[in-house]
Amino acid sequence: MCAYHGSLTLAVMSIPVAIIGLGAVADSHLAAYRELPEIEIVAVVDPRAERVRQVSERVGAPGFLDCASMLKQVRPRIACVLSTVASHRTLTEMLAAAGIHVLCEKPIANRVQDALAMKEACAHHGVQFMYGSSYRYLPAVMQARELIASGTIGRVRLIEERGVVGQGADKFVPMSAAHYPEGTPGGGGFGLFDHGVHLLDIFPWLLGSPIRRVLGRGNYTGRAMEPEFALLEHECGALGMLTYDESTVSSDLPWEGVFSHGHSWVLNEGFVGAVGEWSAGASFIRVHGTHGALRIFHYANRLFLAVPGEVRELTVPAGAAPEHFGRQLRAFIHALDRAQPAPSSIDLGIGALSTLLGIYRSAETQRWVDVK
Ligand SMILES: NC(=O)c1ccc[n+]([C@@H]2O[C@H](COP(=O)([O-])OP(=O)(O)OC[C@H]3O[C@@H](n4cnc5c(N)ncnc54)[C@H](O)[C@@H]3O)[C@@H](O)[C@H]2O)c1
Repeated sequence: MCAYHGSLTLAVMSIPVAIIGLGAVADSHLAAYRELPEIEIVAVVDPRAERVRQVSERVGAPGFLDCASMLKQVRPRIACVLSTVASHRTLTEMLAAAGIHVLCEKPIANRVQDALAMKEACAHHGVQFMYGSSYRYLPAVMQARELIASGTIGRVRLIEERGVVGQGADKFVPMSAAHYPEGTPGGGGFGLFDHGVHLLDIFPWLLGSPIRRVLGRGNYTGRAMEPEFALLEHECGALGMLTYDESTVSSDLPWEGVFSHGHSWVLNEGFVGAVGEWSAGASFIRVHGTHGALRIFHYANRLFLAVPGEVRELTVPAGAAPEHFGRQLRAFIHALDRAQPAPSSIDLGIGALSTLLGIYRSAETQRWVDVK
């Protein structure tokens, strides 16, 4: 055990929350959680001692080098598992056994059997598991979903995201094997596994229609990086398309960007940039329907509607990244307080992972793979 902070006293009315894993995304969660008066950060955990010391001092909560030591001293009601993907299962099982509700970052795990074990552990110990489906809390994405449901763009035929954002093979840095072990599906931070998993969850949610079958290919840790793609056939007939390649060179032109109303995610740095700043490579989703189309700048928090002969920008509420993490945690707390299931259930995480691995299987069989 390594406690860096003397006091373990909890405020009576606030909800005690532990942060497990203090990497880049933890800074964004913590920034958003500062705006939630209803919670108190009661512990921060990471095996990196210096990082624990810094964050512990900054947030004024005791720090620990491992989850088991934390559990001997602190009783959070919720633990946010923001650690490496490969550690999600062990941590979730440990927290569930201690009776602590879990909010876990995406991807839920590396393998479906790990995710199913996490579900079993949570059910067995009667704790709730909230899948970190954070895009569901981004205002531009939320508003786009309402527009699609109301029929504004007609019947959706095509939905796509393209991420060819690299600076060449020499500059490409894959995600570490601590997240995606050697020889298993992995790749880059803006690749199919680590990033595309967001879209495999969000496309069906935006369209109100599950994915029926998939075809594509993805990268593996330790192997040569190739372009990644996925074709997704939704039950409504819409085709989803994902294309990623971070080890080639982007062809974006300098004026192809937006003045961002949010922050951009940069690997190992978190959400950076200032609101109002020019964002040359702001990522976006395109949705094409029979009457109109949407361009959703999910992090830049801007939304454009195109109808024949006209493109106009729609007003989107404020509260982009990283504030969406606060909205996500608040939604979980709201459900817990009402004894309702977590709004983004563990099945969403399992579903997104199964779809992802279905894409990898399709590369082996060279055939479409049905998604259950
Ligand atoms: N929702 C989003 O927009 C978003 C953005 C980035 C990352 N993520 C996800 O968040 C998670 C973390 O990503 P990151 O970019 O912060 O990674 P990172 O590599 O920067 O940090 C991971 C941290 O976990 C710590 N860790 C490893 N094993 C641990 C254990 N057993 N207990 C406690 N801590 C442990 C590491 O020491 C490290 O500090 C991943 O699942 C990632 O996919 C989500």
